[in-house]
Amino acid sequence: MNIDQAIKDRRSIRGFTDEPVSQELLEEIIELANRAPSSMNTQPWHLHVLTGEPLEQVRRGNTERMLGGVPPSREIEDYAAYEGEHRDRQIEIAVQLFEAMGIERHDKERRQDWVMRGFRQFDAPVSVVVCFDRSLLTNTIAHFDTGAMTYGLVLAAWSRGLGAVINGQGIMQSPVVREVANIPDDQVILTCVALGWPDDNFVANSVVSRRRPTANTARFLGFDG
Ligand SMILES: Cc1cc2nc3c(=O)[nH]c(=O)nc-3n(C[C@H](O)[C@H](O)[C@H](O)COP(=O)(O)O)c2cc1C
Repeated sequence: MNIDQAIKDRRSIRGFTDEPVSQELLEEIIELANRAPSSMNTQPWHLHVLTGEPLEQVRRGNTERMLGGVPPSREIEDYAAYEGEHRDRQIEIAVQLFEAMGIERHDKERRQDWVMRGFRQFDAPVSVVVCFDRSLLTNTIAHFDTGAMTYGLVLAAWSRGLGAVINGQGIMQSPVVREVANIPDDQVILTCVALGWPDDNFVANSVVSRRRPTANTARFLGFDG
C-alpha cells in the first residue's frame, strides 16, 4: 500500500474479529514503528504486547475498578477536561460514532455499554501498551517521540489490513496494566493501542472523522516572492 493511501484511509477501528494476530506479524510492524525519528535518536519508547490471558486480566481489572467507582489512574500528568474548539471536536466525533451505532442521546444504558467496551479495549485480540523511560517523564519531547512511533505502528498495521485504535481508556486503570504486564519501574505507561483484524460488520469502523482544512492549520510565509 502506498503511504498516501494508508494515511488517507486509516481510521480508528473499534470492532474486531476473533482471528488472532501472529507474533511474527506484530514484530514486523514494531520493527517499522521503531524507525520513527526521535530527539537525538533517543528512542525513549518501550512496548508491551498483550494477548490471551494477560489481556483478559487487564480487561477484567479495568472493568471491575471502573464499575466499582475507582477513580481513573494514569501515569502521565492528568489533564483537565477539554474546552472550546477541542471540546467541540470531542463531541463531534462522539456524535458521529453514536449515530453510526444507533445509540440515542438519552440511551444511558447503551452509552454506558459503549464506554465499557472502551475499557475492554474494544475486545481487540491484541493490546500494545506504550511506555517510555521514566527518566524522561517531564521531557515533553519524549512524549512527542513516542507519539511519532505510535502513529508509525498504526500505519504499518493498517497497510497490512490490521485495524487499531490508540486509546487512553484501556490504560485508565494503569495500576492493573502495570501489575499484569509486569511493567518495569523505570518505565511510564503513556497509552495503549488496541489492534486486530477489523470486523467489517461493525458500523463504527466506517466512521470517518473530520479534519480542519489546511488553511486553518497552517500558515505560509514568504511564498509570494
Ligand atoms: C492519545 C489518543 C488517545 C485516544 N483515546 C481513545 C479512547 O480512549 N477511546 C477511543 O474510542 N478512541 C480514542 N482515541 C482515538 C481518537 O478518538 C481518534 O483518533 C480521533 O477521533 C480521530 O479519528 P480517527 O483515528 O478515526 O481518524 C485516541 C486517540 C489518541 C491519539
